Amino acid sequence: MARILLTGGAGFIGSHTAVALIERGHDVVLFDNFENAERDVPARLARITGIVCPVIEADVRDEAAMAAAFALQPIDAVIHFAALKAVGESEREPLRYYDSNIIGTIRLLAAMQRAGVGRIVFSSSATVYGEPETCPIPETAKLQVSSIYGRTKLAVESLITDLERTKTLSAVAILRYFNPIGAHPSGLIGENPRGEPSNLMPYICQVARGIRPHLNVFGRDYPTPDGTGIRDFIHVMDLAEAHAAAVEHCLAQPGAFTLNLGTGQGVSVLDLVAAFERVNEVPIKLNVVARRPGDVAICYADPRLAKSMLGWQASRGVEEMCRDSWRWQTLYSQ
Ligand code: UFG
Repeated sequence: MARILLTGGAGFIGSHTAVALIERGHDVVLFDNFENAERDVPARLARITGIVCPVIEADVRDEAAMAAAFALQPIDAVIHFAALKAVGESEREPLRYYDSNIIGTIRLLAAMQRAGVGRIVFSSSATVYGEPETCPIPETAKLQVSSIYGRTKLAVESLITDLERTKTLSAVAILRYFNPIGAHPSGLIGENPRGEPSNLMPYICQVARGIRPHLNVFGRDYPTPDGTGIRDFIHVMDLAEAHAAAVEHCLAQPGAFTLNLGTGQGVSVLDLVAAFERVNEVPIKLNVVARRPGDVAICYADPRLAKSMLGWQASRGVEEMCRDSWRWQTLYSQ
């Protein structure tokens, strides 16, 4: 069993990955600046798992705090979630994104090098494929980013791949997420965006809750069966289990690999809304508006490489994702 440090460990995907790692017997250290995470997440994790994880409240750009984190206990691997993640915001605040996502990673890597920690799993995104030429998208597809957020993800992919090639790092896993939604079935942890949500599922939940009057559907004129965008929604617990499998692969053998994390199923915006209404028996008022700039029509994964390398594949369906998102929204999120 290993001790794994999660940067951004109190965030949406970090907290669910902490559960998956603890369930597999690993020790978890949470490192988070709580800029985009609730302070009670560690306590909620303790309620779910029965384990109290050490928590370091600091920013990855804080070199002294990073050094202290690695000095406190031996760390076998890092899963690096800490980053800013809103596409639109990245275009308005480019320096903030380059600083947090790229400088933050460089500081983390320098601290890992000083501490002799050579294994890292990195949160990347399907955004690196831009407008895909074909769907399902394999990992070998052309990379083309159109936002600053996407460029920071691609830059870090190159950075850590270079460090593995030059043997500064021993094992690297780059995980390209498609559209993570859902929540832990306890309803104790989930996604809690600050302000108006930019992603679809948190917005649907807030409409269902009466916090927002309606869901704006961004375009009904895409070349898809119902005219709305098609995405590969994946349950966050499936994603979390993929991280656990990826870090275990890094612990077992050196080298670098890049994997898509998706279900391989394309689901439209209207399909997701209909599934949510059906399983939760809550109506969602819709308002069709113009396309959102930068959105692609269709984006779903070819997830076969993850299955062959890790023995992992997503097992939870869209209805379970909708049920778990709504349970979290009604029980605990603000
Ligand atoms: N959508 C709406 N209304 C909303 C929000 C979204 O109709 O209020 C639609 C979008 O137009 C899109 C779909 O719902 O067709 C999914 O949109 P999201 O914002 O939930 O997700 P994206 O696919 O745009 O973006 C996600 C991540 C990004 C990542 C990208 C990779 O949020 O971080 O996937 O493709 F870069």
